[in-house]
Amino acid sequence: MAGVTDRPFRQLCRKLGAGYAVSEMIASDPRLWGTQKSRRRRDHAGEPAPVAVQIAGADPAMMAEAARFNVAQGAAIIDINMGCPAKKVCNAAAGSALLSDEPLVARILAAVVAAVDVPVTLKIRTGPSLLRRNAVRIARIAEDAGIAALTVHGRSRACLFAGPVDYSAIAEVKASVTIPVIANGDIDSPHKARDVLLGTAADALMIGRAAQGRPWIFREIAHFLATGERLPPPTVEEARALILEHLDDHYAFHGEEAGVRIARKHLGWYTRDLVGAEGARAEFNAAETTATQIAAVRRCFDRLALFGERLVAAGDAPRADARTCVAPFAMQARQQAATPWGGEALAA
Ligand SMILES: Cc1cc2nc3c(=O)[nH]c(=O)nc-3n(C[C@H](O)[C@H](O)[C@H](O)COP(=O)(O)O)c2cc1C
Repeated sequence: MAGVTDRPFRQLCRKLGAGYAVSEMIASDPRLWGTQKSRRRRDHAGEPAPVAVQIAGADPAMMAEAARFNVAQGAAIIDINMGCPAKKVCNAAAGSALLSDEPLVARILAAVVAAVDVPVTLKIRTGPSLLRRNAVRIARIAEDAGIAALTVHGRSRACLFAGPVDYSAIAEVKASVTIPVIANGDIDSPHKARDVLLGTAADALMIGRAAQGRPWIFREIAHFLATGERLPPPTVEEARALILEHLDDHYAFHGEEAGVRIARKHLGWYTRDLVGAEGARAEFNAAETTATQIAAVRRCFDRLALFGERLVAAGDAPRADARTCVAPFAMQARQQAATPWGGEALAA
């Protein structure tokens, strides 16, 4: 996910059970390769193998050149983006806009597969719109072109991120080709993962937004699929350690100023539903240095520890627990209201 799955976050997901993580998309236009954003997206130092780089564009020759360039920079797998509905990509008729032009899809895939000697994979949606679902035809084109695996986000381009995911369209694709098919879209729990695997017969699952603030979802899913049992949420102490480690890598990768700014969204996701984290987001956002942001995280986790040994999401807390939880938080809020950080944060 562009803007989310940077190298530090991918490494964290891999450590927590993701079998594979693809880079944020890189434009195929070489004029954009020199920007700081693009250079950061191509930084794979220390990333566990295989390094997979996603490229986006609409011109077969440019896409081939982008694939060659990224393989020379260390990519062991090239993934082609034909799934993104974002205006910036689609204005250049790239991303999922390409699904409307099947001959062009074939030319791009052939050019990229011929350009590199590493596996090339493809990410698509179900088609340009609900009434023009051509994922099966695109999948066959992909297989004929030598694509090594196909990820299908079960929504059409026109659907953006709204409406239900069409898992039956993914199942149809899986039944139509012999290359591995990866199911994607709204998989947000171990039970859902099992249901989508069974319902689509897909070879693997891709998780996007559900990993935001919950990178341990990968081990939860892997454990459930292997044993049929649900892992408990992480302990407060484990989550604190993981988040502080993520921040360390994140600041080293993005630098002080951008690091603090970009970390705000991750910290907001980490704490979004947690009982005891109310008000913490305002503190993370107010912090202007890595040191003050880290201090805000430590304070937040000190508060969370008052609510129990493990993280408690608001929806999961039984009513009686919620009542007992409110008391220490309110007490602490009163005590801390006198301190400069406590007053600000807890009022927010
Ligand atoms: C912020 C954001 C950025 C994304 N960037 C990309 C991208 O660069 N390449 C891509 O193939 N898909 C991208 N996607 C789509 C996701 O990979 C995924 O297909 C979609 O979110 C549905 O899966 P999910 O419900 O598990 O999130 C992005 C999605 C989001 C929310």
